[in-house]
Amino acid sequence: EQEEPKFTIGFSQCTGDDAWRRDMLRGMQRELAFHPEVTFLYRDAKGNSSKQVDQIKELISTGIDLLIVSPNEAEPITPVVEQAYQQGLPVVVVDRKTASSFYTAYVGGNNYEVGKTAGQYIGALLKGKGKVVEVTGLPTSSPARDRHNGFLEAIHKYPGIHLIQTISGDWEKKIAKQKLTALFDSIKGADLVFAQNEVMALGTYEVWKEKDLTPRVKIVGVDGLAGPFGDIQMVNDQLIDATLLYPTGGEEAIRVAMQILQNKPFTKENILNTAVIDSSNARMIKMQTDKILSQQEDIERQQQRNDDQLKVYKNQQIILYVLSGL
Ligand code: FRU
Repeated sequence: EQEEPKFTIGFSQCTGDDAWRRDMLRGMQRELAFHPEVTFLYRDAKGNSSKQVDQIKELISTGIDLLIVSPNEAEPITPVVEQAYQQGLPVVVVDRKTASSFYTAYVGGNNYEVGKTAGQYIGALLKGKGKVVEVTGLPTSSPARDRHNGFLEAIHKYPGIHLIQTISGDWEKKIAKQKLTALFDSIKGADLVFAQNEVMALGTYEVWKEKDLTPRVKIVGVDGLAGPFGDIQMVNDQLIDATLLYPTGGEEAIRVAMQILQNKPFTKENILNTAVIDSSNARMIKMQTDKILSQQEDIERQQQRNDDQLKVYKNQQIILYVLSGL
């Protein structure tokens, strides 16, 4: 029997504590279950860039064969990733980018496109006229900057749309809520809030609700997460008006990593598409994503069963071996 070559993949995640990143990790684990020859080392930097640099160094020192990284902030994470790449370690960048093109492959959305699509949608929704507030992610992370620039480019085509304020919510619901509440007097006249992710869109909804202002401000978010607490459900329940799909790409990241490790042809830029989810399609998308979620759970159950059976089989082999020596 021929042994498959063994590999170790290290994954440095910028922050692990939200539904979007848990979805990414689950996707990776589902795909990894097809590769029992791979050891997977996971590190969560919990939103701290210098911690992430240390964790990447630690992963490299254990002798990983490939690094997957989602950089918390672009600049601080760039040197360590560049150095690893230049020393010959393959690097797959996911979702957030470094400030350099020294990496082997990228898997994730085109955030400029996400912002631009949001801007075009908002221009049409407001019929070309109105006051808009933008709540951005961490300004030093690449998606926040790219979504902002794409958004500006799109709304500049609408002279009647005024961006009255850009507030940084750092991707966090709590921070977004604090700042929106503190600035409420200057933004309460807004017609629409564009929040750059799901949790900040929910935070925006909650601020307007707490202020008891009806009708609530129009809200457009980003992420398009499935499940009972995801922003697809939020559109369906009319807590927000629309959201832009931003796929997490966990499975794709592992697939590209395996192509690289197995010396197979691969694509350097693997761009996952965006789409608008609003009241016109949310019901249908919810039905489809609910179905996908339950199929994913079936796959995970099946994989667990295979694992259990493999353990039983290995134990039986040991027993047979011991018995044969008697
Ligand atoms: C999750 C998240 C998403 C957002 C992405 C940007 O941690 O904040 O909501 O789309 O990161 O990198």
